[in-house]
Amino acid sequence: MTDVSRYRELVDTLNRWAKAYYVDDNPLVPDSEYDRLYRELEQIERADPSVIAQDSPTHRIGGAPVSAFESVNHRVPLMSMGDIFNDAEMRDFDHRMSEFQGGAEVEYCAEPKLDGLAVSLIYRNGLLERAATRGDGRVGENITANARTIRAIPLKLTGKYPAYLDVRGEVFMPRDGFEEWNKKARERGTKPFANPRNAAAGSLRQLDPAVTASRPLTFNAYYVGEYEGGELPQTQYERLMSLKEMGLPVNPNVKVERGERGLREFYEDILERRPTLNYDIDGVVLKVNSLSIQERMGFTAKNPRWAIAYKFPPEEMMTKLLGVEFQVGRTGAITPVARLRPVYVGGATVSSATLHNEDEIRRLGLKLNDTVVVRRAGDVIPQVSAVVLEKRVPSEAKDIVFPTVCPECGSKIERLKGEAVARCTGALACPAQLREGILHFVSRDAMDIEGFGDRIVEELVSSGKIRSVADLYHLGVSDLASLMLEPEKEGHKARFLGKTVAAKLVAAVDKSRKVPLNRFIYALGIREVGASTARTLATHFSSLDEIMKADLNTLMNLPDVGVVVAEHITDFFREKRNLEIIRELTDPEDLFSARIEITPLEQAGGSLAPLDGRTYVITGTLSAMDRNTAKERLQALGAKVSGSVSRKTYAVICGSDPGSKFTKATELGVRIIYEEEFLNKLSELEGLRGRI
Ligand code: IVH
Repeated sequence: MTDVSRYRELVDTLNRWAKAYYVDDNPLVPDSEYDRLYRELEQIERADPSVIAQDSPTHRIGGAPVSAFESVNHRVPLMSMGDIFNDAEMRDFDHRMSEFQGGAEVEYCAEPKLDGLAVSLIYRNGLLERAATRGDGRVGENITANARTIRAIPLKLTGKYPAYLDVRGEVFMPRDGFEEWNKKARERGTKPFANPRNAAAGSLRQLDPAVTASRPLTFNAYYVGEYEGGELPQTQYERLMSLKEMGLPVNPNVKVERGERGLREFYEDILERRPTLNYDIDGVVLKVNSLSIQERMGFTAKNPRWAIAYKFPPEEMMTKLLGVEFQVGRTGAITPVARLRPVYVGGATVSSATLHNEDEIRRLGLKLNDTVVVRRAGDVIPQVSAVVLEKRVPSEAKDIVFPTVCPECGSKIERLKGEAVARCTGALACPAQLREGILHFVSRDAMDIEGFGDRIVEELVSSGKIRSVADLYHLGVSDLASLMLEPEKEGHKARFLGKTVAAKLVAAVDKSRKVPLNRFIYALGIREVGASTARTLATHFSSLDEIMKADLNTLMNLPDVGVVVAEHITDFFREKRNLEIIRELTDPEDLFSARIEITPLEQAGGSLAPLDGRTYVITGTLSAMDRNTAKERLQALGAKVSGSVSRKTYAVICGSDPGSKFTKATELGVRIIYEEEFLNKLSELEGLRGRI
């Protein structure tokens, strides 16, 4: 027999956790715990479908596909908004608003302008009855089945709510979800989305709700279109807060501001923080806060008189594709790079953008001299997101020819079955691969050898002074001093590196002769072994030798190491040339080796402080110890513990009921460590210290 009260408890708990996660930005449990209860709920429903409740979270997985969307009339149309683009226009707006109130200072509700898709959600007696797209404002499409799959949209409201509520808001795809989706699409060879907005629109307008369910969409409410049978506060800001009480997510950056000055400060603040947000915004929306004034001002034919959208400079711009270069990476991967007519976009001048791979060029249908859309959002590298076919001049458009031999060494370029990337087969005979390999070897997170920039490394390789990373350790001051940095030109003498700089470089190389295991592993440049995987390896094995001998199964059992990475590792240590270089770098018996001494992971910087230089922030309640103890134990490992989150924070340690620091961390993309992981790490690091 079904345990109905257990079933109800599961539905309520899961809905409460979902609200805490999506609405309050305050996750109460790790995802795994949510998943566990979710599975239990699924089991009950499968065994006895008669119990399934209307507000069950499983309803989000979607009903049956439809052949077309049904049209719906919006009882209250979804209005658009007037646009402004500069401070002078904003002053005019504020003057108009102030004049209407007899010259008084105006109170506004200022909000980010989310760049997704407007929807209307109708709740009757607290249950989601209908979701519809904006359409032309009067007639939209019924997308209820799809909206139900978006976890941020509550199926049932909580607390006090009007009997009938038409709430408006934006469905959008967060940037991390968008990047992740596109990365996978490129690997699979399917079409990536041009931008998060298209991604949201394309995902929401799917006839099969199961497709929508698989896309990382979310939702923020920003306006009440209509309500009956209940009371709502009489300012926009308080209304948003009451929507939040009902379980509807509201953007955390909405604020009450006064006068023109307040509006300008808000605009500047959001514009500055735009790159750190995890979602696209294309401006700010400024609304007169008082509902009674809003009602008195009313609407023009198209727009509310009491609101305006102050647009930001765009993150997408058109420019011309002047050429395509093919760059060779450390692993031989050939990356096509678009050379563009310089264009100001997303706060920087962009003159090149990655094209990823050959398939991407084909998918874009890109030709030389095309006009293209360049996107630069957040700190993601610039991308060519579309071709503007309308602007193509047929006589100028030339095919882009992917090279069959490496532009740097002339070796054959090979593309393995099932792989999206083409690679130069020249390996270390290819100067480009050697150069990139050396730059990686000396980089900060690897051997951290200061002073070896692009130019010096290029010259070392092309002059034949270096044939492998091991050769770095045999460079003398005179080898380096005679490196030519600039050739003789137009009466200017050639410029050489000189003895002083050369001596510094030699000293820097010398200093790197003692290095922690994780850095050495990372420096080797094994495919797909980044700094964090290298750290994992160095944590689970006590020496380089052990890692070199590890078999596939052992490697695949490590956290975050899948079959592909494990194979890259075993392949790497099977390669004769790699073993030779490792010997040249480390063999203590060989007088001609660099005799690098590999120290255990925790001796980073030669100290007993493995967390040296990292700043942690603690939020929420830890169950295993109080905050002070956590702080002291972190400090004992060399960490700093701070009270506020910034971009310099290494990670936020998150107990139950975390606060605004958690939200801030997600916004800034700062790493979050939950209690269980924290405790494991702590005892691991403390245990290692004990052994030294
Ligand atoms: S309020 C009557 N607030 O901007 C005013 N719209 O409105 C109703 N948008 O396509 C709209 N962020 O999707 C409002 N915080 C916000 C918004 C916002 C984005 C979009 C909305 C619509 C467009 C024009």
